[in-house]
Amino acid sequence: MPPLSPALGTAGKHLDVRGLTTRIRTARGEITAIEDVSLTLAPGEILGLVGESGSGKSVTLRSLLSLLGPRARSTGSVNWGDEDLLSLGEKNLRRIRGSEIAMIFQEPMIALNPVLTVHRQIDESLCAHTDFNRAQRRQRTLELLGLVGIPDAQRRLDDYPHQFSGGMRQRVMIAVALAGAPQLLLADEPTTALDVTIQEQIIKLLLRLREELHMGMIFVTHDLSVVAQLCDRVAVMYAGRIVESGPVGEIFRRPRHPYTQGLMASVPRLGGERLPLQSIDGTPPSLAALPGGCSFHPRCSYRSELCLREVPPLLTLSEGHAAACHHVQASERLKQARQPNGDMRHA
Ligand SMILES: Nc1ncnc2c1ncn2[C@@H]1O[C@H](COP(=O)(O)OP(=O)(O)OP(=O)(O)O)[C@@H](O)[C@H]1O
Ligand SMILES: [Mg+2]
Repeated sequence: MPPLSPALGTAGKHLDVRGLTTRIRTARGEITAIEDVSLTLAPGEILGLVGESGSGKSVTLRSLLSLLGPRARSTGSVNWGDEDLLSLGEKNLRRIRGSEIAMIFQEPMIALNPVLTVHRQIDESLCAHTDFNRAQRRQRTLELLGLVGIPDAQRRLDDYPHQFSGGMRQRVMIAVALAGAPQLLLADEPTTALDVTIQEQIIKLLLRLREELHMGMIFVTHDLSVVAQLCDRVAVMYAGRIVESGPVGEIFRRPRHPYTQGLMASVPRLGGERLPLQSIDGTPPSLAALPGGCSFHPRCSYRSELCLREVPPLLTLSEGHAAACHHVQASERLKQARQPNGDMRHA
């Protein structure tokens, strides 16, 4: 049987997203769903994308592959290897979607075709992305279903999506996404509907695929313990922008943006003192009426006059760790003035 990934052994592609902004036309006018999002991903690297509901995580993933439909318009650049996916056009994008870059959607019933059996859906992907013969495709389908933990896969091949439970559908969707042996997996809350043991299995599976296939991942989740287990780096979104990013250990140990500090404080600590869970005061702003300056300022106890006026840029504070906060940047400048060791840079 050929290896799971045709790309195995070849140097993978880098993802380099610069200034990605997506505007969507709605009945009540145009909204800017995400603004000036920049991120990079090396082959085999796993980036966690976190933030409250509505902060733009799904729009970011969908914008990378132009999957938001005709009402959305994205600007900036999404470089995948030496191609800009935003200027590639629908026909060439179809060559990349599902093969080099696959997506696991937040809603399994939307992503799966209800009138096709599970076998057909995986088979179609294998037909499109491999040159396996029929027997090889059947064997690979069984392997993939086994890999994501569908019990008794042989018997379930001819079942339709609605015959699976929510958790099982989510696994089927992961199997469909992996069928094209992608170099990059965009996973939108793929484990949220699953119970903890299954979630652990899926995370182990994804880590194994990273080791074996060198598959990179952007992993959207609300669950910071999943981020800690799975991700190398994390990017925190607030109101459509990345407000902090950096290596997971660094962000967990020393969150700098007041919003990230709030997120971290709301996570229960294993074995730690039993403290009541904190929540961040206030609610996320409506995109239709974003406050001027830093969008977080109405909820921020550090806000100054500058925060009401100017959007803080995402600046690198230390190796790979960046934050978009006037307060953090001012204290960093003060520190550097005391012991000069270089300037902050745009992330
Ligand atoms: N197709 C669309 N038409 C209009 N507005 C949209 C559309 N898709 C997303 N939005 C808006 O863009 C913003 C970002 O939405 P997005 O789905 O990316 O949030 P999210 O961070 O994924 O949230 P959740 O954690 O709830 O999944 C929201 O305000 C949402 O209402
Ligand atoms: Mg979402």
